[in-house]
Amino acid sequence: MLLAANWKMYGSPSQLAAYCEELLPQLEGCAHQVVLCPPFPLLPQAVMLCAGSELAVGAQNCHWAREGAFTGEVSPNLLAEMGVSWVIIAHSERRKLFGETDDTALARAKAAQEAGLSVIFCVGETLAEREGGETLSVLQRQTAVLAGLDPQKLVIAYEPVWAIGTGHNATPAQVAEAHAFIHERLQELTGQAVPVLYGGSVKPQNAGELLATPGVAGALVGGASLDAGSFFAIIQAAP
Ligand code: G3P
Repeated sequence: MLLAANWKMYGSPSQLAAYCEELLPQLEGCAHQVVLCPPFPLLPQAVMLCAGSELAVGAQNCHWAREGAFTGEVSPNLLAEMGVSWVIIAHSERRKLFGETDDTALARAKAAQEAGLSVIFCVGETLAEREGGETLSVLQRQTAVLAGLDPQKLVIAYEPVWAIGTGHNATPAQVAEAHAFIHERLQELTGQAVPVLYGGSVKPQNAGELLATPGVAGALVGGASLDAGSFFAIIQAAP
């Protein structure tokens, strides 16, 4: 399974050092793939601390250009050269707060893969969309752009927006339905099986049930990943 920690805009150099000191020895011999995605300024420190360990390092976004006059942006080539191996693209916070569209998300994902990064591409419906019975049509639209991507360097994260940071995770039945739909879509679009993670209020208490749900290949964890003990408990809950 793949367990990824999305620190969002949290964390500091001292927190990262303490986190790695606690988590890295526990991950020795871990059967799962584990990825830490801290904010950009912490990436060099994370790459250094995690070198030779079971913890890979990911970024939370990247630009679609290799370089250029894009003040405040970070290119995927720079991330790759620094030793970052993953990047989260199209997180719902980027879609909602920073104008990410299906097309800009695709451009980022393509550039990231071309730079050698593996992409965690996020999809998921809002509460209004779920209540309006539009969940599957939203997932259909959000996945439609993925046909041109390399399925070997692609993981989808199903993150229902209403489950993010709310303490209300999707039920296993809701997760199973969405994951089955996404699996089918990705098979159709890329001709290959692409792993699908679940994200949205994953905690040590619900991780066992969510990770055992059919079609779930791992988790993208926000809040509970900030504490090394909680994140490790989630990793341990993975079958
Ligand atoms: O990307 C992870 C995410 O959005 C879920 O956040 O805090 O609900 O685990 P959280």
